[in-house]
Amino acid sequence: MARLIVVSNRVPVPTTKGSTAAAGGLAVALEAALKAHGGLWFGWSGKTSSEREIEWLEIRDFGNITYAVADLNRRDVDEYYAGFANRALWPLCHYRLDLTDFSRKDMAGYFRVNRSFARLLAPLIRPTDLIWVHDYHLIPLASELRHIGVKNRIGYFHHIPWPPADVLSTLPVHDTIMRGVAAYDLVGLQTDYDVENFAGCMIREGFGKSLGDNWYESYGHRFQVGAFPIGLDTEVFEKMAEEGSKNPIVKRTAQSLNDRDLVIGVDRLDYSKGIGQRIEAFSRFIEMSPSAKGKVTFLQITPKSRSEVPEYADMQKEIAELTGRVNGQFGDVDWVPIRYVNKTISRAALAGLYRLGRAGLVTPLRDGMNLVAKEFVAAQDPENPGVLVLSRFAGAAREMDGALIVNPYDTEATANAIGRAISMPIEARRERYNSMMPKLREHDVAAWCRDYLDALSRESDQPLETMRSAAP
Ligand code: UDP
Ligand code: G6P
Repeated sequence: MARLIVVSNRVPVPTTKGSTAAAGGLAVALEAALKAHGGLWFGWSGKTSSEREIEWLEIRDFGNITYAVADLNRRDVDEYYAGFANRALWPLCHYRLDLTDFSRKDMAGYFRVNRSFARLLAPLIRPTDLIWVHDYHLIPLASELRHIGVKNRIGYFHHIPWPPADVLSTLPVHDTIMRGVAAYDLVGLQTDYDVENFAGCMIREGFGKSLGDNWYESYGHRFQVGAFPIGLDTEVFEKMAEEGSKNPIVKRTAQSLNDRDLVIGVDRLDYSKGIGQRIEAFSRFIEMSPSAKGKVTFLQITPKSRSEVPEYADMQKEIAELTGRVNGQFGDVDWVPIRYVNKTISRAALAGLYRLGRAGLVTPLRDGMNLVAKEFVAAQDPENPGVLVLSRFAGAAREMDGALIVNPYDTEATANAIGRAISMPIEARRERYNSMMPKLREHDVAAWCRDYLDALSRESDQPLETMRSAAP
């Protein structure tokens, strides 16, 4: 059987004390997927070294996973990670042209680091390995591997939204990015909307020709695109939530609530998550509902993220100020409306906290999937479930039809949805919960992994000429 090689920028190498899965959907999902399958996980160690070039790998085995990670030097981190990946590609894929910074120096650093990663990875690859590359940091990796003679099947999964052609084409090197994507054998996206956007970029911009059924021919290579919505380790998470009441953080939180209703939000501190708009909506809800004063607590757990990127540092300040203003305006000596926490909380504790929540607020302005939305639902007590308030702009909204779907730009409507969630009768809450759980159980992270890898390992059995040609 083929060995699996997973490549991602973020690799949460466990410590001897146990898992170190960082806050972030990619690390959480890949850890669950690789544990089930075994294999090699290659990427950045997360450390900055003083070496001039990326030269060596640290290789360690934990259980059935071999971790192979490299340090990056300061310049690489600045140009590749904090620069092109997180100041150009991330805002662009989240439709934030106002925040994109297209520096030529960063672009060069991005391609340079991908080349170095390919050189380090190539000697570890065996002829029958399946290679699965993850996320926007590593789009050029397949073409770099091909240049040095790697012939294996190589797949790419894009965890974040794929933007429409008009947005992507604002990127000065968008043609090189599209060429990079076209070097893979299978491109996985989160939703059917992303697949539509991808088709627009490919065909309208003239980068390739459609062969039908989401097959394309581009730069002399044939590849397939598909929607593979990422899932949770649902059963494990349900159990974790059931046992969550024993967790000390959950116990302390439950006690401190003093019978108040809990509304919960959990997000990395990222401008794509709509945290500011959510706080405004919660503030509006308190203003509109005098009976909620002193009776509802909004717990927003927000670990700091990418603080070296200026837009993130600015946002940290803005959200802290906004929270202070709302608490000052509505708070009292024995109650503050918003508890704002900048710590990373373990998933075991999060599971228990979600279960305490009467409402979960997941209101990104744009998100590839959003695992928190799925986790909130999976964590609920089936007899007395809380209600998910979910942005229509999260990939999860394509599946989670039992949520109250909102437009996060509409403060009034989001405030109303919070009120509706808190006061929803138990039958309606159960009905909503029961409409979502079967899907969450069936389309879990193992199914996501299996569906993707089955498609990647399948050689196309149709010769090129028999495929329906829908020329661009
Ligand atoms: N998470 C965590 N601790 C925290 C905050 C988040 O473990 O303090 C986890 C959360 O449970 C989820 C992931 O980080 O599994 C966030 O994934 P999501 O898809 O919602 O957003 P992303 O951060 O990937 O954009
Ligand atoms: C999102 C991205 C991941 C990234 C994670 C955390 O989930 O899709 O690729 O790893 O955020 O961000 P960070 O920059 O800390 O890796």
